[in-house]
Amino acid sequence: MKSYRFPDSFLWGAATAAYQVEGSPLADGAGPSIWHRFVRTPGMVKDGDTGDVACDHYRRMADDVAMMKQLGLKAYRFSISWSRVLPEGRGRVNEAGLAFYERLVDTLLAHGIQPMATLFHWDLPAALDDRGGWLNPDIAHWFADYATGAFRLLDGRVRKWVTLNEPWVVADGGYLHGVLAPGHRSAYEAPIASHHLMRAHGAGVAAYRAEGRHEIGLVVNLEPKSPASESPADHAAMRRADAYMNRQYLDPVYRGRYPAELQDIYRDAWPEWPASDFGAIQAPIDFLGINYYTRSLTRADPAAWPVRASPVPVAGARYTETGWEVCPEALTAVLKWVRDRYGDLPLYITENGAAFADPPVAEGTVEDPLRVEYLRAHLLALAAAIEAGVDVRGYFVWSLLDNLEWAHGYAKRFGIVAVDHATQQRTLKASARYYSSVVAFNGASLGGT
Ligand code: BGC
Repeated sequence: MKSYRFPDSFLWGAATAAYQVEGSPLADGAGPSIWHRFVRTPGMVKDGDTGDVACDHYRRMADDVAMMKQLGLKAYRFSISWSRVLPEGRGRVNEAGLAFYERLVDTLLAHGIQPMATLFHWDLPAALDDRGGWLNPDIAHWFADYATGAFRLLDGRVRKWVTLNEPWVVADGGYLHGVLAPGHRSAYEAPIASHHLMRAHGAGVAAYRAEGRHEIGLVVNLEPKSPASESPADHAAMRRADAYMNRQYLDPVYRGRYPAELQDIYRDAWPEWPASDFGAIQAPIDFLGINYYTRSLTRADPAAWPVRASPVPVAGARYTETGWEVCPEALTAVLKWVRDRYGDLPLYITENGAAFADPPVAEGTVEDPLRVEYLRAHLLALAAAIEAGVDVRGYFVWSLLDNLEWAHGYAKRFGIVAVDHATQQRTLKASARYYSSVVAFNGASLGGT
């Protein structure tokens, strides 16, 4: 059996996000977020599910951290709910909301688990949405002010910060296709929202340099694209899809400009931005977080507005319950691509995982062999990238808990720990035990027994 070598300091963790797990969204003086409103908009979330209770992590946090310790996790990536801390998104601080994150961080540290805090994982304060949300240029300052408060309170204890989680999903789901909060559907708004997300990211990094002493980065979701055929039309579609989803968020940070294809995608909806914005967006970051789930075979499709590209099903491939092809090789490829295109950066896999139709709890466990296999294959793909010299410093499985999968509600389960949403009972799945043993041996045992 081959033994795999991960760096000694490799950070093995699990990830969650505030609105997906916390519950109690208005407790102790918190303000509503756009997700609190979106789940109350008829027809937007499957079965009318809400995050009102979610995994009740707000109240069960200490037990959940003890469970992480039992699994041997070295790190936990969570997000801070902006409107729990600043109910109106700016100005007045809700001390009780801040105190929750202080307790969470202290409990993690007491158990020897390193916190990685994400400042924005989609739950924008509703009060800021009332002022235009990501369409209002002032949001970069609102975000920087909020971030500064979080840094001042927690930077002594949190050593790894993330500005934004997946700006592409916010712009695409929230402003272009309207399937995620705030539910807008406009090709004129999407590039504006994207740009202000990136400006907020840059302003957050600048605020960190003024206050922080450790590391700050950005988390993007990358989905490698390949052409469905050798036709020039499919190749061009692949380049548009790649520019839209992947390079749109990395080129401005590392090269100070947007990919040229975006103009061809948005046409008259593509705005001109002042050059000075790019200087701010390019503020150097300490690491890049990559969320990897799948890749996509892409064909030209004039009807698919506005990118004019569609995914093609891959014959014989396995798909997850969210319809994503299982393709671990593309994880190795995307890590090498980032290194080759943007340089030798410190990288973290900040999310990777899969939804499968798990069986019910039986005899105190959940057998989820498909997820075990998914994790094993992706960790092997990660090991291959590290062996090829890519500087990957940690891996966070998505997700610790079965949680509110946004518009899918509770129907799609990504957890390595099952949650019975009627009783809040947690049950370790086979994948949790598998992952725990990988962590215990620092990945050396990946090849299997
Ligand atoms: C997000 C998570 C989400 C996961 C699975 C990522 O896009 O960051 O919040 O649950 O994918 O869809």
